[in-house]
Amino acid sequence: MMSLGVITCRVAVATGLRFFSTTATTASALVSEAVLSNVAKGFGDQVGASRANLSYWLRVPLIHGGSVRNSSTISVEQKEKQDVSADSSVGGNNDGKGPVSYWGIEPAKIMKPDGTEWTWNCFRPWETYQANLSIDLNKHHAPATNLDRMAYWTVKILRWPTDIFFQRRYGCRAMMLETVAAVPGMVAGLILHLKSLRRFEHSGGWIKALVEEAENERMHLMTFMEVSHPRWYERALVIAVQGVFFNAYFLGYLMSPKFAHRMVGYLEEEAIHSYTEFLKELDKGNIENVPAPAIAIDYWQLPAGSTLRDVVMVVRADEAHHRDVNHFASDIHYEGRELREAAAPIDYH
Ligand SMILES: *[C@@H]1O[C@H](CO)[C@@H](O)[C@H](O)[C@H]1NC(C)=O
Ligand SMILES: *[C@@H]1O[C@H](CO)[C@@H](O)[C@H](O)[C@H]1NC(C)=O
Ligand SMILES: *[C@@H]1O[C@H](CO)[C@@H](O)[C@H](O)[C@H]1NC(C)=O
Ligand SMILES: [Fe+2]
Ligand SMILES: [Fe+2]
Repeated sequence: MMSLGVITCRVAVATGLRFFSTTATTASALVSEAVLSNVAKGFGDQVGASRANLSYWLRVPLIHGGSVRNSSTISVEQKEKQDVSADSSVGGNNDGKGPVSYWGIEPAKIMKPDGTEWTWNCFRPWETYQANLSIDLNKHHAPATNLDRMAYWTVKILRWPTDIFFQRRYGCRAMMLETVAAVPGMVAGLILHLKSLRRFEHSGGWIKALVEEAENERMHLMTFMEVSHPRWYERALVIAVQGVFFNAYFLGYLMSPKFAHRMVGYLEEEAIHSYTEFLKELDKGNIENVPAPAIAIDYWQLPAGSTLRDVVMVVRADEAHHRDVNHFASDIHYEGRELREAAAPIDYH
């Protein structure tokens, strides 16, 4: 495989014309892969605008904090000023220390239209979106082959101890299961990433799409941990389950991506079901419909005054999107094709 790649390179260099045509193709493919990240940086385009309302954020001035590039020689006076301004920013995972960067890395300050500062370091306004709630929640992939049935029953069997463990504690259940749900996308993304490097070939956008899925699931976790706090034995359980599940999914994906994606498709179907139960408990008043966590309001662009019920609604819509992506990925494999041959649903969640 390696030698093949090297030979191809040599041929390309030797024949000048071919070299340029290859470069051009690569460049245009790179551009198409980069379009979304450019959109994200604010070079508007209707693709991104239809999801996160970009015109909303484009009006936002980007203020680069301090803008002292070579601040290793910063004066004490300036340094104190910077420390104070850093302390006053409340958000996200800012520890309030405000380190002065010798390397010229200054965190960009983003202002919301209402004049308040964007407080989350872990995600940016252009990564936020409004969930499409009109997605069909009842879609189901009827198991067609033995591999499908195996994936289906693996999930059904895994559901059983989960139901017993959590009973009707849906808040706790959601938080705990999201620690697992965020694993497959990252594992699959990692494997496809290494495969792309190894084989000198494009990914079709699937690496990004799958890593995005993992990130989206992790945001579910960051949201639910605001309303449910893990106890020590739950934390221990998460560590143990992660140790087993990461390795199992990694090996499973190496052996059969077809099976791995199908299984995640069925996991998402179960997740939709669990969130529907969660909504029922909220409506019955068995779970208090507390105000939505601030992180959820910003991430899903929810209106002020949204509640936990609104959050569960958008999270459930996310799960339905993941269901479709994973069943789709499995179907591509069933057709005997590789994922890269079909354009990945980037930004679909
Ligand atoms: C985007 O936001 C702007 C400003 O808030 C608003 O005027 C416009 O209607 C929004 N567009 C869409 C498609 O939501
Ligand atoms: C900061 O860097 C600029 C060029 O990058 C240089 O001209 C300037 O003298 C430097 N300032 C200090 C205080 O080192
Ligand atoms: C929302 O989902 C529905 C059903 O999948 C689809 O028809 C519609 O185009 C989607 N809306 C947007 C704004 O993407
Ligand atoms: Fe999730
Ligand atoms: Fe999920």
